[in-house]
Amino acid sequence: MSRPKISVIGAGNVGASAAFQIADQELADVVLVDIVEGMPQGKALDLHQMCPVIGSDVNFIGTNNYEDTANSDVVIITSGIPRKPGMSRDDLISTNTKIVKEVTENVVKHSPNSILILVTNPLDAMVYVAHKASGFPRERVMGMAGVLDSARFRTFIAMELGVSVENIHAFVLGGHGDDMVPLARYTTVAGIPITDLMDEATIDALVTRTRKGGAEIVGLLKTGSAFYAPGTSAVEMAEAILKDKKKILPCCVHAEGEYGIDNIFVGLPVKLGRKGVEEIVQIDLQESEQEELNVSAGHVKELCDIIDGAGIL
Ligand code: APR
Repeated sequence: MSRPKISVIGAGNVGASAAFQIADQELADVVLVDIVEGMPQGKALDLHQMCPVIGSDVNFIGTNNYEDTANSDVVIITSGIPRKPGMSRDDLISTNTKIVKEVTENVVKHSPNSILILVTNPLDAMVYVAHKASGFPRERVMGMAGVLDSARFRTFIAMELGVSVENIHAFVLGGHGDDMVPLARYTTVAGIPITDLMDEATIDALVTRTRKGGAEIVGLLKTGSAFYAPGTSAVEMAEAILKDKKKILPCCVHAEGEYGIDNIFVGLPVKLGRKGVEEIVQIDLQESEQEELNVSAGHVKELCDIIDGAGIL
């Protein structure tokens, strides 16, 4: 049985972290693509030389040529610029729209049956761009944001309560921005809702820190944005797909009436399997939660309208 193939477009911080994680899990052969000459080749060689040490038999190719990505099962798109201190994710929109459009067109030419996982920001709008540029059905175009936002929430809860991160399941809906919607009543520690374990003020503080989690890291790094957790989160999605795990993860998907949202890309709980987005899991939201989700979805729509207005697609 041949190993699955994942192409990672953008061999920068997030792309290289994802590639590292794929090798560590012995999940797939990796093709690392970047526009910069030599850099993906160098990183691929370095990662390949790590494999004997960790006991992983995946193969690596570093390249500037999309022909090498042919027949990928999954493509993780990280190409684009990251933000700097003081920038919002939305500030990246015009540069990254052009990059994601070009990259997607190249990817689909060589891997028409692949499943795309977007990581480039502003995330939800970039999933819209890739969906449009690829012509793929919604099942095969999704964005990584909810896994990361949930991981941040889980980390902060674990730090607060002094418990294992493994005990914590978090539930975050909405777009990947300051108006994301972490749902406290569906966030649990060993099955116990956090609302039974912490007072409201503490939960609110953790929710706020989660919403600003990316900016906190940008402020500390000063030269770019987070990459270990984003890269690893994208690989969790790829693993769920390639192993047909039917894992329910919060992902950015094209809502077609689910949660009362139509024709907008936004973070919702999704069942991931070998076909990609196999189901959007629906639950009843309280009125205030639905309102927050609507605000977040409305924000994504504004960004997509800006892209449409700019005539780039
Ligand atoms: N084709 C291929 N690669 C490209 C292209 C392109 N047209 N344009 C840019 N790139 C590459 C860059 O050369 C760079 O190596 O994308 C890579 C991006 O890497 P970094 O600058 O290190 O950025 P990173 O931290 O990885 O973030 C990438 O993910 O989380 C988001 O907000 C983040 O949008 C950003 C993206």
